[in-house]
Amino acid sequence: MTAAPVVPGPVTARVPAKVNLELLVGPRRDDGFHALATVYQAVSLHDDVTVAAADEWGVSVSGPLADGVPTDGTNLALAAARLLGERYAGDPVHVSIRKSIPVAGGMAGGSADAAATLVALDHLWDLGLDREEIEDVAAELGSDVPFLVAGGTAMGSGRGELLAPVLARGTYHWVFALAEGGLSTPEVYAECDRLREGTDVPEPLCTPALMAALRTGDPHELAPQLTNDLQPAAVSLRPDLGETLAAGMEYGALGGIVSGSGPTIAFLVEDNEAGIDLAVALTASGVVRDVRRANGPVHGAHVIHHRVD
Ligand code: C5P
Repeated sequence: MTAAPVVPGPVTARVPAKVNLELLVGPRRDDGFHALATVYQAVSLHDDVTVAAADEWGVSVSGPLADGVPTDGTNLALAAARLLGERYAGDPVHVSIRKSIPVAGGMAGGSADAAATLVALDHLWDLGLDREEIEDVAAELGSDVPFLVAGGTAMGSGRGELLAPVLARGTYHWVFALAEGGLSTPEVYAECDRLREGTDVPEPLCTPALMAALRTGDPHELAPQLTNDLQPAAVSLRPDLGETLAAGMEYGALGGIVSGSGPTIAFLVEDNEAGIDLAVALTASGVVRDVRRANGPVHGAHVIHHRVD
């Protein structure tokens, strides 16, 4: 009797969301992107992405936050699958995304799904790529895709895709205030340019004070260092975000910041208990659509399930 052939079964990768602890936006470059100096932290809100062999390329999305995710060729996870397939002669796959990261929220949900797709396909197709090779493909897909592969806490330069490790101690506790609707990242960058028109914008450099704060592991040290140059632009487009920031600080957050290009707001709190208290207070206040608690840093995209049929 001959054994049945081994068919690679679906592979699922889990990927975190990110928050920028510092996001310094420099001048607009000739390619349309802005020079960035940023410190990313991966946080424990996750999407799960499953890839499986299929007759044709496709993507579907499920989960509580699935609304608003495109399922056509503009879906970044599908684009990631096709790009890796072109490069390594991979056959068509279907990508299934289970979404828990806010969509168009400034937490890199689309980029996260692309990162998870690359990691899952590396496994499904048995490519044996190392982290650096995956991060190279990731950089072609978007500025923060390489970080979602890497995870942890890292500095990003260039347009955000060039990563360097950061020494960070401890675990930080976050409460994320989700807003109604999303913000378009290009529109927020354009608003940032408009607000700064006529001013001299320096080349961005991450501040040593933030690095020193991260080495202490103390959220009280980190809170005053949280900075986001896109925040004035996000608040200009969505004035209600100012109200959310004020409410979170009033209810005991150590620090509050627009996450990436927004409209999600990230509040840093002292510990898990403070996070529960703030989440309850914000929910009761009615100023936010919903809240999520998370901690960071956590690992980047990684395989959690692989079935061999
Ligand atoms: O790289 P990604 O596709 O995520 O970028 C989305 C958009 O955000 C870009 O098309 C650009 O308008 C803006 N962006 C930028 N400078 C960066 C990163 C993003 O202007 N460093």
